[in-house]
Amino acid sequence: MTTQRALITGIFGQDAAYLARHLIDQGYEIIGTHRRTSTNNSWRLRELDVERHIRFEELELLEQSNIIHTLKETRPTEIYNLAAQSFVGSSFNQPIFTGEANALGVTRILEAIRVVDPEIRFYQASTSEMFGLVQETPQKETTAFYPRSPYGISKLYAHWMTKNYREAYGLHATSGILFNHESPLRGTEFVTRKITTHFAAIKFGLIDHVELGNLNACRDWGHARDYVEGMHAMVRHDEADDFVLASGQTHTIEDFANLAASVAGFKIEWEGEAEDRKAYNRETGKCIIKVNPRFYRPTEVDLLMGDAGKAKDVLGWAPRTNFENLVEEMMAADLDRQSRTDRFVSN
Ligand code: NAP
Ligand code: GDD
Repeated sequence: MTTQRALITGIFGQDAAYLARHLIDQGYEIIGTHRRTSTNNSWRLRELDVERHIRFEELELLEQSNIIHTLKETRPTEIYNLAAQSFVGSSFNQPIFTGEANALGVTRILEAIRVVDPEIRFYQASTSEMFGLVQETPQKETTAFYPRSPYGISKLYAHWMTKNYREAYGLHATSGILFNHESPLRGTEFVTRKITTHFAAIKFGLIDHVELGNLNACRDWGHARDYVEGMHAMVRHDEADDFVLASGQTHTIEDFANLAASVAGFKIEWEGEAEDRKAYNRETGKCIIKVNPRFYRPTEVDLLMGDAGKAKDVLGWAPRTNFENLVEEMMAADLDRQSRTDRFVSN
């Protein structure tokens, strides 16, 4: 078999690091693309020891000519489009940039594939945020969409564009509808890693407490390491299609915090409701979690729980890491990182 060459956009992000590791282990050549930045941002790639195997190229989702020239010069056989403005919270403040990058950025890549080489297989990072105000539970490929943020709406446009280019031009263009997946390499703005970095800093006496938003939202959390294997299986499948990847379980933010606290060695007790809800460390009596409405979203996604039955039947994919193991791994990693520095671990 000829060597496969995968181009991964958003190479400095969480998923890209795990995907690069997985594909390198499968014998792939990797072209990792990133937008131009003034500083090197490759800490995740170093953590998984993949940086030295990657050919780096600058690629900006807002720049059509840049995308076309990058494909002409690098000649990938597969493209995994993981680059995006991926933080739902910021999408309310940056709806236009979010649409440019997440929605039109995908059309620009699909057009570039048509022009340069329609044989390139394409993976689009779609999301459970497209289900938003959920119309049924659990959510699956046939569930009606109802996005609740500029992020979810931008991703829904990209999802339909991917499907349209598959149907209109016969591209092998696949959309993975992935539910939340986390890891020790998760960005610290997302709630899971925000909790584990702050608990580690509390443990080492650097801060007193963490401020969170809506504690009642329910998410279906899995491990990014497992989900990138599903991405690859979709791209290698004969037929391009849409697939949900999910754990099938859902937990509240408070559940995540309770489990992370117990891994960190805190015994916590909750008091109060809504904005007055607080968690206290039973041993010290100090408050370690407060609610701050600043972190509420103008429109919230209250409940996500996916059904990955199709991915299991067609691709043989199932997650390996359960919720408890995920929280343990994340909390242990941040305690370890924090133990090695006096400054608050911020990435
Ligand atoms: P992530 O860590 O935020 O990585 C996204 C990457 O995209 C970052 O490296 C970012 O660059 C890059 N990027 C942003 N705007 C760009 C632009 N205009 N041009 C080029 N690159 C740009 O996200 P992730 O968690 O790995 O997620 C990967 C993809 O899956 C994203 O598309 C996300 O929306 C989607 N998704 C994620 C989940 C999840 O739970 N993780 C679930 C469903 C779907 P910088 O490093 O410079 O910021
Ligand atoms: N970020 C954050 N910070 N979220 C908080 C906080 C807080 O302090 N407090 C409560 N939350 C709640 C949010 O309101 C939301 O309901 C939930 O925690 C999860 O928020 P995030 O971790 O920011 O993730 P997300 O679910 O909005 O989006 C992630 O998953 C999507 C898939 O469903 C991102 O990775 C998206 O890119 C991805 O598409």
